[in-house]
Amino acid sequence: MKFMGFREYINQIDEEGLLRKVEIEVSKNLEIPGILKEIEPTPVMFNHVRESEFRVIGNVFCTKNVIASYFGVTPADLIPMLSKAISERSEPEVVSRAPCQEVIESGVDLDNLPILFHCEKDGGNYISSAVVITRDPDYGQNMDFHRAMQFSKGKFSTRIVRGRHFHKFLEKNGELDVAFCIGNTPNILIAGATSVDIGVDELQIANALEPIKVVKASSVDLLIPAEAEFILEGRVYLEEKHSEGPFVDLTETYDTIREEPVFEVKKITHRKDAIWQALLPGALEHKILMGMPREPTIFNKVKEAGVKCLDVNVNPGGCSWLHAIVQIDKKTEEDGKKAIFGTFTGHRSCKHVFIVDKDINIYDPLSVEWAMATRFQGDTRMIVKNKEPGSSLDPSAEPSSKLTTKIGFDLTKPLVVKGKSFDIAEFPKVDLNKYF
Ligand SMILES: Cc1cc2nc3c(=O)[nH]c(=O)nc-3n(C[C@H](O)[C@H](O)[C@H](O)COP(=O)(O)O)c2cc1C
Repeated sequence: MKFMGFREYINQIDEEGLLRKVEIEVSKNLEIPGILKEIEPTPVMFNHVRESEFRVIGNVFCTKNVIASYFGVTPADLIPMLSKAISERSEPEVVSRAPCQEVIESGVDLDNLPILFHCEKDGGNYISSAVVITRDPDYGQNMDFHRAMQFSKGKFSTRIVRGRHFHKFLEKNGELDVAFCIGNTPNILIAGATSVDIGVDELQIANALEPIKVVKASSVDLLIPAEAEFILEGRVYLEEKHSEGPFVDLTETYDTIREEPVFEVKKITHRKDAIWQALLPGALEHKILMGMPREPTIFNKVKEAGVKCLDVNVNPGGCSWLHAIVQIDKKTEEDGKKAIFGTFTGHRSCKHVFIVDKDINIYDPLSVEWAMATRFQGDTRMIVKNKEPGSSLDPSAEPSSKLTTKIGFDLTKPLVVKGKSFDIAEFPKVDLNKYF
């Protein structure tokens, strides 16, 4: 299998003419995020950042197509690929010298890093692209994502949702060594976003997706991705809290201010001429990374419900979290409803699910809406589940309890057609070159 680090990937998209470059000086405060949002999903490198010696790159992995092409597969191959990597995890190779430690800074001054200030009402400069590695004496290493808001030259407050494995480790230990790793490839990013059993080291999932090398961090006893651009090592304290937020969440709305654990940075290492990976909150890249790891879990639960599942799209229009579009090969009239229940089991935060036939393009919202318009009847093909625990991200869920009403829409056509045909009429295929 090929091995391609973040740096090689950037060089490759540059050679292919897919990377835009900004040579004029730009600010990490609002300007870089504004440009990235305007030009999304095109990757952009900022070669001169006013406040920092380091370059910034953003919009690197914004679409399923880009991620699939990184792995050399098609988007439909991603679900089986990720399922296989979760079940057939493998140990990364441990090396003693690594690019992420080419430079070991003698002191810590976060103001020297291009930590972006994204939107006007944000509570501070934020790291949003870091995978966070930590270790519990019994469970071993864990890797997930935690945004971090800078509030001094050496400290962040970091959002750790209750129930996350990192939160469980923190409750058990009170404080923990951590490594925030920035500048990563999709195997590491996707693995960090998966929710697997406690005790599973997600770096092994990353390695099964595409082999990686790991190295011992310079000041803490953790194995970190050797090819990363920056590593921020230090300690997170459960009881030492600082306000965190406001910050834009997955739904593109503002999350509230909370008291969250402090992350004290004790050591910074990086590559020579390191590149800072930006990841816009709530934007396409954030969405794709959140939604994609839920697709195999939905796929498997729909299959377990006895339905032939063909593909799943936790689509960006549904914030890549609250909606799922599930394509099935319908064999019985009950399959649509079984697939609805399977989806809600496979993804607890899902609020609306749409079940479609194999002739519907689940990546095209127009095609799914067409199925709803022509194949759906609300009295017989809809399942309403009143007031169930939903997503904390949904602004419309009940604010204190997060209770929400979930709905499943069976947009499949009946197996026995009584009236008009449900099929799209086909026009003849022609070769346009013959005429123009
Ligand atoms: C880009 C991105 C940002 C995220 N930010 C946070 C965050 O700030 N806090 C948090 O608790 N989870 C965040 N998550 C979600 C978790 O990292 C993710 O659900 C992870 O799978 C949880 O891992 P665990 O199963 O090991 O607990 C984020 C996910 C992504 C993809």
